[in-house]
Amino acid sequence: MTTKQSSEQLFERARRAMPGGVNSPVRAWSSVGGSPRFVASASAATLTDVEGRTYIDYIGSWGPMIAGHAEPSVIDAVVAAARGGTSFGASTAGEIDLAERVCARFPSMERLRLVNSGTEATMSALRLARAATGRDAIVKFAGCYHGHSDGLLVRAGSGATTLGVPDSPGVPAAVGALTRVATFNDLASVDAVTDGDVAAIIVEPVAGNMGVVPPDPGFLEGLGQLATKAGALLIFDEVMTGLRLGPAGYQSVTDVVPDLTCLGKVIGGGLPVGAYGGGADLMDRVAPAGPVYQAGTLSGNPLAVAAGLATLACLDRPGAYERLEFATARLEAGLLSALGDRPGTVQRVGSMITLFFGPTVVRNYEDALGTDTERFGRFFGCLADDGVWIPPSQFEAWFVSLAHTDGQIDETVAAVSRAIAATD
Ligand SMILES: Cc1ncc(COP(=O)(O)O)c(C=O)c1O
Repeated sequence: MTTKQSSEQLFERARRAMPGGVNSPVRAWSSVGGSPRFVASASAATLTDVEGRTYIDYIGSWGPMIAGHAEPSVIDAVVAAARGGTSFGASTAGEIDLAERVCARFPSMERLRLVNSGTEATMSALRLARAATGRDAIVKFAGCYHGHSDGLLVRAGSGATTLGVPDSPGVPAAVGALTRVATFNDLASVDAVTDGDVAAIIVEPVAGNMGVVPPDPGFLEGLGQLATKAGALLIFDEVMTGLRLGPAGYQSVTDVVPDLTCLGKVIGGGLPVGAYGGGADLMDRVAPAGPVYQAGTLSGNPLAVAAGLATLACLDRPGAYERLEFATARLEAGLLSALGDRPGTVQRVGSMITLFFGPTVVRNYEDALGTDTERFGRFFGCLADDGVWIPPSQFEAWFVSLAHTDGQIDETVAAVSRAIAATD
């Protein structure tokens, strides 16, 4: 019989086996201090750690768990799929169902390709954009994170900013030089770097990886115009926002039709799935229909597809998006009142929300870097001790799920009020 180990003991063991003790950097809690707590299990809107403490969870696996943890219909679908075999390396009907259902929601996507992660989706979409335009340069925004492929790890948000390494060593200078960086919500900065060499402008339509930063009115429309003027493609990275902010992602609330869309997170319901898609002409350049090569041993995996389909079914229930909006608006009102007149702000779009300490508005990466991360670290520690599990970084979105109850939102607000008061 093995003896049960504490989070600290597990972390010590983990550090011997894995770099920094984790398989994704932000999990190490390095920017907030303390030893990360190891999760034993999760159910609905709560997580339980190996010490048996339960938390109301606002990480939701960084977005995918929109239906809640261990949602029975998702688990049943995955178990049923597993009984029929976990991977075949050949096509299944489920993959078509998922592709059809997603394309039916997004008018900009006639066809899509399933991959295993958001990183693969954005990397592959850029390859396609480069092939279609015959150009090499790309434009991205400081503080936006699109996964960890070389050319996108330039001024990247999320964990890269949390750790202070938004430009990673190991990215060849020649690759980094093809990435031009603009300022979110600043069209002049985009115009300045977008010329006839640019294959694509890639953007999170609502930035979530420097904390939640909504686009200013007209910003996305302006991007569409600048892309058209330069003959570049516009790529919406909706890995975080797609299917979370509405059935057709954030693009449905703008007049902008992106050339390519990247999805991830929710589309896999907690199993590894990503996707990229667009018009048929563009997508038919992808192998084997066309010459742009992209493949995957586990792409369209039957368990992941089953989890994705079951999660979409939860979002199709009447009132699902209204519920997400209502619950997160309730949280927003509570956080604002807990913050009171202290310096800071709460920014929210749909079920993505961030409480920033410091600036009264965050419109771009520079603003985000001006936040009070030291206070955030202390706030995070108080909340964790009080049973609320938020991202261990100021530069992340908190996610609300269909499983969060009004009672849990109110408990969270009470804990946030205590944590803010304790960090005054
Ligand atoms: C907007 C966005 N794009 C891409 C990615 C990368 O996705 P993955 O971690 O699945 O590779 C993320 C991950 O957080 C993301 O938020």
